[in-house]
Amino acid sequence: LENGLSRTPVMGFNNWNSTHCRAEFNEAMVKGIADLFVSRGLKDAGYQYVNIDDCWAEPQRASDGNLVPNRTRFPNGIKAVADYVHSKGLKFGIYTSAGTVTCDGQGFPGGLNHEEQDARLFASWGVDYLKYDNCGDHQGQSAQQRYTKMRDALAATGRPIVFSICEWGSNQPWTWAQPVGNSWRTTGDISDNWGSMLDIFKRNVGLAPYSQRGAWNDPDMLEVGNGGMTDVEYRSHFTLWSMMNSPLLIGADLRKVGQSTFDVLTNRDVIALDQDTLGIQAGEISNAGGRHVLAKPLENGDVGVALFNESGSAQTISTTATAAGLGNATSYRLRDLWSKVETTTSGAISASVPAHGTVVYRVSRQGTFATPAAGTTQVSDLT
Ligand code: GLA
Repeated sequence: LENGLSRTPVMGFNNWNSTHCRAEFNEAMVKGIADLFVSRGLKDAGYQYVNIDDCWAEPQRASDGNLVPNRTRFPNGIKAVADYVHSKGLKFGIYTSAGTVTCDGQGFPGGLNHEEQDARLFASWGVDYLKYDNCGDHQGQSAQQRYTKMRDALAATGRPIVFSICEWGSNQPWTWAQPVGNSWRTTGDISDNWGSMLDIFKRNVGLAPYSQRGAWNDPDMLEVGNGGMTDVEYRSHFTLWSMMNSPLLIGADLRKVGQSTFDVLTNRDVIALDQDTLGIQAGEISNAGGRHVLAKPLENGDVGVALFNESGSAQTISTTATAAGLGNATSYRLRDLWSKVETTTSGAISASVPAHGTVVYRVSRQGTFATPAAGTTQVSDLT
């Protein structure tokens, strides 16, 4: 969507994967996440949006038709929370559904036929991002009609609001949503386990040709830090999502995670793949025997190469610089983006990759290697 927003994939947080609709989803959580974005270096690493998901509202609209913030979770309203997030130099996102009700079983009011009123209310609260889900009755309107209506309602407010389409790939949004949303979910919901992450990766990786600047495939929010995968698996999850230009929405309650989670989420070399201004989603070069090789052209002429081992035992995974699109230079520099080790090769790119692991390199033609030293990448300058 050419609304000037999300020229690189959105980076931020959403509470859903960690809390669903449980009571700990409340004002204190949102403020606590905003605080941690600043104090733990996430803001500096490029994370900007603090977003809330379903169950933020009361079950009934007010007599004037406006949505009402849940009185227990958000006793001071949503605007107060958005103001707090803004006071930290961050942005604030909200959720509703392109149907009569939202997706939680309690059926909170959805946005269908209330598009203008809800968009105006969100804008008045200072909302910067809307996730628009697909539950409730659609009253005979197609997904394209329903999402286009909300796109227009958001534009009419005059406030810049990122528009995130969440219809789970049901209507092949990659074939129509580029002018409608800044991203579109390509699959059903992720869960915090290896099988779910792997399945979503496989569904999303082939959609690379449909992704473009301002209009991204969205394989759903991150599970990194939620406890259901190993650190090796979470590094694969984060690497693959970055290679696929996915929105990087942290799904863990950062108030409860350990240092290893922050280490994954703030790997600036991997983030730089996701946020590269060329905006090309990695293509899969090969995947024989679950040995996946992905290549992602980058703005400065380098190529990101990920060697992902789907199998349950260590595997040697190999490709070449030529196969990765780097032409026929006499030598290449490989920077391992997790270990930070740099090596030189005449063309072979190969590694022993642990079970469920990913080795990812930034590959440059020798002499043109231009990645800034660790800690100096200005991701925020790229957005
Ligand atoms: C759907 C969405 C999820 C989440 C829930 C909330 O399942 O796909 O991401 O927003 O609704 O109820």
